[in-house]
Amino acid sequence: MEYSAPRGTQDITPDESGIWQYLEATVRETMARCGYGEIRTPIFEHTEVFERGVGTTTDIVEKEMYTFRDRGDRSITLRPEGTAPVIRAYVEHRMAARPQPAKMYYIGPMFRYERPQAGRFRQFHQFGMEVVGVPGPAADAEVIATPLEVFRALGIRDVVVNLNSIGCPVCRGAYREALRQVYQPVLAELCPSCQGRYDRNPLRLLDCKSEQCRASVPEPPPIFGYLCPECASHFAELRLLLDGLGIEYVINSRLVRGLDYYTRTTFEYNVGGIGSQDAIGGGGRYDGLVEQFGGQSVPGVGVACGMERCVLAMKAEADDSRFARGITVYLVSLGDAARAKAFELAFDLRAHGISADFDMIGRGLKAQMRYADKLSARYVAIIGDDELERGAVALKDMASGSQQDVPIAQLATQLLNNR
Ligand code: HAM
Repeated sequence: MEYSAPRGTQDITPDESGIWQYLEATVRETMARCGYGEIRTPIFEHTEVFERGVGTTTDIVEKEMYTFRDRGDRSITLRPEGTAPVIRAYVEHRMAARPQPAKMYYIGPMFRYERPQAGRFRQFHQFGMEVVGVPGPAADAEVIATPLEVFRALGIRDVVVNLNSIGCPVCRGAYREALRQVYQPVLAELCPSCQGRYDRNPLRLLDCKSEQCRASVPEPPPIFGYLCPECASHFAELRLLLDGLGIEYVINSRLVRGLDYYTRTTFEYNVGGIGSQDAIGGGGRYDGLVEQFGGQSVPGVGVACGMERCVLAMKAEADDSRFARGITVYLVSLGDAARAKAFELAFDLRAHGISADFDMIGRGLKAQMRYADKLSARYVAIIGDDELERGAVALKDMASGSQQDVPIAQLATQLLNNR
C-alpha cells in the first residue's frame, strides 16, 4: 500500500519550507513593529466555542468543522479559524483588566472540511491579528493596513481591498427587512441555501455565488442608506483614515462575509494570478463577541490571511531564489583523513556561527561539487591529502569561480570577514 497525506492537506518539504519561513519571519517582524504580541491557542477547542463564536447558521459550523468526541465523551473541534479562540482566551485570562487595547497576532493551522481545489485546503494556515478594546475606527484602519505592509514586503502586488459596513444590531434589523422584501417575490427561484438564509440570516443572501440566484434577484439596495448615524460616521471616519494612509479600496456593499460575529466594518483582500480562490485575507469588526463569551461589552476588530494563498502569490510575483535556504560553505574532502578533518572543521565553523556542511557519504570530487551547488553553497572548501599536509584548504567562491589557499586556522575568520 502506498501512503499519502489526507485529501486537502499537504506536506511542506525542506524544498518548500524556505518560502514559508520567509513569510512567517515577515509576519513576525511586521507584527512586532506594530506592537502586536503573539498568542498561541490550542489547535482544538470545545465545539461550543465555534458554535457561539462563529455562529450556528454559518457554512463553517453547519458543514465544515472537524468535530469528534474525545475519550472523555466531550465534543471537540479542530479550530476552523482563530478569532473565536482568541476571544475565548481574552475572557478566560481576564485581559480586559489589563491595559487596553489587547493587540494579539497568531500564525498556525486551521481546519475546514471544504472541497479541496487550488488554494483551498482542509488543513490550511492563517496569520491573523486581533485588536480588542478599541471602539473607534483607528483599530479598523490598522488591521486593514498592516497585512498590506506584509504583502508589500513579500513582493505581492496588485492587492485589491474590498470594504463594506454591515451595521450594528440597531440598524441591521431594518436592512434585513428591506432585503426580505426584495427577495420575497423570487423566493421560489432561489438556490436551496438561500431559501434557508431568507429566514435565518438574510444578509448572507448578498454573497451567494450561485448563477441561479444572481439571475433571478433584482439588485438589492446597498446597506448604506440603512446605517444608523453612529455606524455611518464610523464608516466615514475609517475611510478618511485609509485615505490618509493612501490606501485604495473598493466599496463593495455585497461583502457580508461568512462569519456571524461581524458588526460594522467588513473587508477582504483579493489578488490576481492565483486562480479562483483569490481572497488572500479578510476580516472585520466584532463588537458583540467578547460578551458572547461571557465577558463585559468590549469591542474588537481583526483580520486573518491565508498563508497557502500568500505563498501562491509570492511564487507568482517574485523570484523564488531569494527564499532558498543556502549555506555558507560546503567542505569537499578527498580521502579518509581529509574526511575526518572536514567533519571536525564543520563543527568548528558552526560553533563560529557559520553555516557549514560536509560529505558524509564518501562521494567523489565531482559528485560533492554537484551537491554543493544544489545546496546553493556560497563557498566550497576543498581538502585533500595535499591540503592536509599544508594545513590549508582551497577555498572556492562559487559565484566568481575564484580560488585561493586559506590556512585552516584562519578559515572561520576569513569567512566571517567575507560576509
Ligand atoms: P475567513 O475569511 O474565513 O476569516 O478566512 C481568512 C482567510 O483564510 C481567507 O481569506 C483565505 O485566504 C484563508 N482561507 C480560508 N479558508 C481556507 C481554505 N479552506 N484553504 C485555504 N485558505 C483558506 C476568518 O477566518 C476570520 N477569523 C478572520 C478574522 C479575524 N475576522 C476578524 N478577525
